[in-house]
Order: sequence, then structure tokens, then C-alpha cells
Amino acid sequence: MKKINCAVIGMGVGARHADFYKNYKYTNLIKIFEKDKKKWARIKKIYPSVQIAKNENEIFKDPNIKLVSIASYDNYHYPQILKSIKFKKNIFVEKPICLYLSQLKEIKKRIEKNNTNFSCNFILREYLQFKKIKKILKKQLGKIFFIEGDYNYGRLEKIEKGWRGKIPYYSVTHGGAIHMIDLILWFLNELPHEVTSEGNRLIVKNKKFKTNDFTVSLLKFKSGKIVKISSNFGCTIPHHHSLKVFGSKGSIFHDLRGGILARSRNKAKKLTKFNHLTNNEKKANVLKNFVMDILKKRKKAINENCKSIFNSMLVSLAIEKSIKQRKKIRINYKTLNLNE
Ligand SMILES: NC(=O)c1ccc[n+]([C@@H]2O[C@H](COP(=O)([O-])OP(=O)(O)OC[C@H]3O[C@@H](n4cnc5c(N)ncnc54)[C@H](O)[C@@H]3O)[C@@H](O)[C@H]2O)c1
Repeated sequence: MKKINCAVIGMGVGARHADFYKNYKYTNLIKIFEKDKKKWARIKKIYPSVQIAKNENEIFKDPNIKLVSIASYDNYHYPQILKSIKFKKNIFVEKPICLYLSQLKEIKKRIEKNNTNFSCNFILREYLQFKKIKKILKKQLGKIFFIEGDYNYGRLEKIEKGWRGKIPYYSVTHGGAIHMIDLILWFLNELPHEVTSEGNRLIVKNKKFKTNDFTVSLLKFKSGKIVKISSNFGCTIPHHHSLKVFGSKGSIFHDLRGGILARSRNKAKKLTKFNHLTNNEKKANVLKNFVMDILKKRKKAINENCKSIFNSMLVSLAIEKSIKQRKKIRINYKTLNLNE
């Protein structure tokens, strides 16, 4: 099979993309653009045969590069996606793909018009523990009626001191909860039609950080299911994603201590414990799947995944709108409209 030439923009988590492109048998890492010049010497040392671009256009305008990874700060994703589409690149972008509804609409329009291959690093779908939970949920829990998903950030210093507290607009929902939204929609294969949310900002001290550091939402589904999602950036606990799933035949609790499955209301019955750890190699599977889909021209799989990315982003935008307007928001996935 032919190899695909790749480039990476932004070398924080983008370094994981770069390592994958460097090591995978069907990808070549050709160029990197990192805007912080202080990082260039180190990048050169780790990737000696890779060219360091002086600006992002050296990547977009290079016809040799077919796949671009966008791992810059959240506010750059939208303009970099548009440029990538313009220059006919395949696109792998870190979440969130954008920050505003108008941007989501424009991205969708242009992707459809240009038939662009597009994916986003919703990494939790590849965690072994969550794959296991999806399996149990489908086969052993009966009728699901309630799920809670909490994104517990545990990295307060990144807002107090890092770029998240400096860019013009940062949303903890788009930056954190979106992982739980994507995961739970993937579990259920069903979309919420209504969202009611609240938020507060009681923990972050950085005065430049103007938005909420905590958001919580109730998502309602036509089937009657309810999902609660929170994005908790002020919590005093190590970073982790916690889940509770309730079905007619059983319940799952998962947090940083691992998972338990209960299949009885009887206290005397033993709980089943499970804890599947995921290594870094597996965490690159979202990217690996995208590369293989491109090379094998699996357009249907790419389009379905792309649709699910838009859906998760739209739910995240609905949450922010609900907080801002203090109203219940109805979601129209076809037109990408959010109405009171
Ligand atoms: N999928 C995930 O699980 C996951 C995990 C972490 C971060 N992210 C996302 O990745 C993005 C980057 O976050 P991070 O944690 O790597 O931050 P980071 O600060 O660790 O690294 C970002 C790097 O990108 C560079 N950069 C920023 N904007 C740039 C631009 N326009 N052009 C070139 N270089 C640029 C910065 O100089 C920095 O070196 C964010 O959008 C974040 O939400 C996703």
C-alpha cells in the first residue's frame, strides 16, 4: 500500500501525532510547524529528517503533504481547518473542531462541497475500559434510562497559567465535556433533542479567564433517556473521566479507581470489578483508523465518523447556549440549528 505524507501543526499533544506518523508503516512525517521557536531545536533533535516549517502556509501550500494534523490552540482550529480544506488536505484535528455555531456550519458546508476526509481525536472511544463498558451496556444492562459522565480535569494550573486562560474565548465544555458527550453518544447510538445547562466560575483565580470553570447539563432523548454531563475544571482530584450507567438489569460505576458492575439490588451479591488500562499505542488508534480509512478509500466510514463529530460539537454548542441564555435548547442536527 502507498504511504501517505503527513504534517503536524502544534507540538504539545501534536507530538503524539508526529510520533505516530514517524513510526507507522503507512505514513511519512514530512513537516512540522510549531509557532514557539524555542521548541525548534528539540523538535529537530527528535525528528532529524523532518523539515520545520517557518509558517503554517509552508504546510498548506506543499502539494506533497496529503494529511495535516491540527494540534494548535482551540482558537486556531477553525482557520486552519478552512485552509486545509482549501488546499485539499485530509484533516485530523484535535478537539474542539471549532468554538462557535457559525464556524461549525461553515466547516460542514465546505467539507461537503470539497468531499474532504475529516476526523477528530476523540480518543476515549479507544480506551479499553470504555470499549468494555460499551459492550456491557449493550449486552448486560437491559434498558438504559440514565447515564452520568463527568470530565474531571484536575489540571487547574493549565487554566491559571497556560494558554487556556489567555486565548480570547475558552470553553470548558468544548475543551473537556465534549469527550464525555462523544463517548456517551457513541455508547447509545442515539442523539439528544434537548439540553438544559448551568455553569459557574468559583475556583479559577485568573481574572483573564472570563468563562465558567464548571458546567453541568441534562441531555434529554426522544426515547426518554436522560444523560447528565459535567465539565469540572476546578476539581481537587487527579485528571479522570467518571461514568455511571443505569439500566433495568444492572449498573456500572467507573472512576479513577476502576469500574464495577452490579447486576442485583441484593447487598450480599458480589460486584464485578474491571479495570482495563490503555497504553499510548492504543491511544493513537483514532488516528490509525483514519489513516487506514483514507488509504483504503472507506468513504462511508469516514463520513459516518465525521457526522458523529459534528453531532458532538453541536451538543457542546447547545450546552454553552443553554448556559448563556438560561434556557432549554432544542437541537436540529439536519440544519445545525439551536433553538429555545
Ligand atoms: N484529544 C485529546 O485528548 C487532547 C489532549 C490534549 C490536548 N488536546 C487539544 O490539543 C490542542 C493543543 O493542546 P495541548 O494540550 O497540546 O497544548 P500545549 O500547550 O501542550 O501545546 C500546544 C503547542 O502548539 C503550539 N501552537 C499553538 N498554536 C499554534 C499555531 N497556530 N501554529 C503552530 N503551533 C501552535 C504551541 O506553541 C504549543 O507548543 C488543544 O486544542 C487541546 O484541546 C486534545
